[in-house]
Amino acid sequence: MAQLYYICVILLSTHIGLVISGSYHEECFQNNTLYLEPSRIMRPSLLAECLDVTTVNVTYKDMIKNFIPLIKTLLASDIRLKNFPTKFLKLFSHLKVADLSRNEIKRLAKNLDSCSPNLKKLNLAENSITIPKRGFLTKSKSLEVLILSKNKLHKLNSQLFNALPFLKVLYLDGNFLITLKVHPFRKLHHLELLHLGSNQLKRIPISALKKVSKRVRVISKNNRIKF
Ligand SMILES: *[C@@H]1O[C@H](CO)[C@@H](O)[C@H](O)[C@H]1NC(C)=O
Ligand SMILES: *[C@@H]1O[C@H](CO)[C@@H](O)[C@H](O)[C@H]1NC(C)=O
Repeated sequence: MAQLYYICVILLSTHIGLVISGSYHEECFQNNTLYLEPSRIMRPSLLAECLDVTTVNVTYKDMIKNFIPLIKTLLASDIRLKNFPTKFLKLFSHLKVADLSRNEIKRLAKNLDSCSPNLKKLNLAENSITIPKRGFLTKSKSLEVLILSKNKLHKLNSQLFNALPFLKVLYLDGNFLITLKVHPFRKLHHLELLHLGSNQLKRIPISALKKVSKRVRVISKNNRIKF
């Protein structure tokens, strides 16, 4: 088996989809990031809190063998993941931020609490997430930020976000939403930001935002809304 070594690198925050409200990787620096790279070894000067697997040319199985329990941020964008990496995420019990953007994931884990009970930010921008006709998208008691920009979301069912009670920020921009007839956000009492831009919405009914926190900021640019 090819051995894997760790090297630290400067992380460039150029990942598309993370430009929004600053970088979600702001806690990752050269001094605390492990970067999996098969040819050299260099350890970060501090305790590693971030793991970058974006340029690892190993199979998923090989990655699992490199168990790193203290990781808080996992950077795994653009590595052609087809499935939500539930087993892999389970290795990192302290994980708070997971960037799985620009992969080919179609479905989320049904229960995020069972694999990442402390996860606060999940970036799934530019994947192929579709939504179930009924039922929850996923369940989590910790998740605060969910980025589903540029996926394949068409119709939101009324229960979709009901198992994400602490969600504060929800990005649904760049999808194929046409209407918001159901009330998918009604259980999101902590919602502060809802990004609905670049869809095909003709209007955003007030009822769709009923019972959502009064503080919520809705972004709706680039739709078909007529004023
Ligand atoms: C780690 O690096 C970042 C960015 O260069 C710096 O702001 C931070 O203070 C460093 N942390 C420590 C403990 O040296
Ligand atoms: C990655 O691995 C595959 C198969 O093991 C190999 O064909 C390919 O050239 C490798 N790519 C890089 C960038 O090393």
